[in-house]
Amino acid sequence: MVGKKKTGKEKEVEDKKTRKKSVKNSEGGVDKEEIQEEVVKEEKEEVMKLEDLPGVGPAAIEKLESAGIFDLMGIAVLSPKDLSNVSGLGESAARKAIQAARKMMDLGFTDGLEFAEKREEVLNIGTGSSELDDLLGGKGIETKAITEAFGGFGSGKTQLGLSLAVGAQLPIEQGGAEGKAVYIDTEGTFRPERIKQIAEGKGLNEDNVLKNIFVARAFNSDHQILLIDKVGELVKNGEPIRLVVIDSLTAHFRAEFSGRGQLADRQQKLNKYLHNLMKMAEQFNIAVYVTNQVMSNPGLLFGDPTTPIGGNILGHASTYRIYIRRGKKGSRVAKLIDSPNLPDNECVFFISEKGVGDEE
Ligand code: GTP
Ligand code: MG
Repeated sequence: MVGKKKTGKEKEVEDKKTRKKSVKNSEGGVDKEEIQEEVVKEEKEEVMKLEDLPGVGPAAIEKLESAGIFDLMGIAVLSPKDLSNVSGLGESAARKAIQAARKMMDLGFTDGLEFAEKREEVLNIGTGSSELDDLLGGKGIETKAITEAFGGFGSGKTQLGLSLAVGAQLPIEQGGAEGKAVYIDTEGTFRPERIKQIAEGKGLNEDNVLKNIFVARAFNSDHQILLIDKVGELVKNGEPIRLVVIDSLTAHFRAEFSGRGQLADRQQKLNKYLHNLMKMAEQFNIAVYVTNQVMSNPGLLFGDPTTPIGGNILGHASTYRIYIRRGKKGSRVAKLIDSPNLPDNECVFFISEKGVGDEE
């Protein structure tokens, strides 16, 4: 993966440098070959790899890769302790490697233009309901963000996840992201037949749609966490993953940490997991959709709901949370909560054989 993309401005400066050199060279009568060599070297510099980091040898790289870390970004966002744990490097070596990765990637403050360019990479995935898409800012859920749907039993969280897994495959002009989906199923509620129905409803080939969804059953929270690394592997193998659904995000955590006094441990593990999800979403331009069943006291998953999780590294991380409940006549009511940039509105959508949609 490319360590650091050169902005247009940097390229221009480079061009000028090369041009200047060629003028000087022609005056001085030096070979053209030298100029070419210079350009090739500059191009090479664009791709920085893990092995370019000081003190990171083949053994550490192997460990990193098996932990799903393949590039500088993966290193840059870790803490020295985390990097030390996954790579086997000592903590001070880990710190040096992180600092080098950050320097190579030029992490830190970005100017407004660069920020806007990064935002431009964001893709959207339509939900199937234009009302719900509008609630989420116009075009449905976003890549580089986590969207959480919470609500009670049968509220429609899974149905929305299935609809998104199909919608993600649509062309961009039709509200999709022209990509594939990963579906992490913790409750055994993924239904291929349902995907087929939804695909048919959107006029897509049912088998192709199913082929473009990688489904994994997560048997416990550790397994669920591990599966995120597998997403990194899929991307590395060239799969254009644009959506990761985790249905449900919290069920295993709830079941495994149910005792008194375990709440802090659960929250810590969950927070770390969310942080990794956000990192994955950012790094690979993926939309993450997670479900969370609630009985009462909805919405305390992220602790202080006004604090966006994992968002301080690149500055534009965002989290959308929608609360879904059953409405009148089989409708569903979705309410947007604590969005960093959208008003807390409500909308009505429907679930039919074709998946999520508007009133017919
Ligand atoms: P839990 O996982 O139990 O927390 O619920 P959930 O929020 O995931 O609910 P889910 O998305 O599974 O919604 C189930 C509901 O969707 C059903 O009770 C139906 O009302 C509706 N539904 C599912 N499939 C169809 C369908 O083919 N046609 C219609 N009309 N409704 C459907
Ligand atoms: Mg469900």
